[in-house]
Amino acid sequence: MKSRTVPQAVLFVAAAALAAGCGSSGSAPPAKPAGGASAQAVLESKSGSAVTGTAAFTELADGWVRVHVHIENATPGSHGLHVHEKGDCSTPDATSAGGHFNPAGNPHAAPTAEKRHAGDFGNIEIGSDGKGDLEVRTDQITVKPGPNSVVGRAVVFHEKTDDMTTQPTGNAGARFACGVVR
Ligand code: CU
Ligand code: ZN
Repeated sequence: MKSRTVPQAVLFVAAAALAAGCGSSGSAPPAKPAGGASAQAVLESKSGSAVTGTAAFTELADGWVRVHVHIENATPGSHGLHVHEKGDCSTPDATSAGGHFNPAGNPHAAPTAEKRHAGDFGNIEIGSDGKGDLEVRTDQITVKPGPNSVVGRAVVFHEKTDDMTTQPTGNAGARFACGVVR
């Protein structure tokens, strides 16, 4: 990706208020969709869990991508959430999705780190109702075709918290839900 002087990523961990929709977030200015460039994934339960969810990717006018992930039927707390390199959720444990999407060959890190996997979205916070929302803005992936395109990759929700340090997985445990981005 071309260099920028702006921060590499802005991460919004959705508050309970966001459950009503994926709209405004704090004082961040709303960015308008570029018009049409969007992709979705439907996450299915894996590894014996009951977790389900959805993910939506929208390319913005400034070239960044807004990601909204919604999860249900999970245990309360922080769970690792990544884009994995292979759009294949066919195995019962979702290991078919491969490792984290990492076209730049960077180490695993936090979504706020300058050098990280393009698929490193950190953690999603699940509430006592078993539901959670995560909104991420990133310049590390695209919706349109290219080496960083998210289409044909997989979104994976994990059993445990991503510690954002352990290589190359964040020690986030089993893959509890997986969905191919289309
Ligand atoms: Cu993962
Ligand atoms: Zn990673």
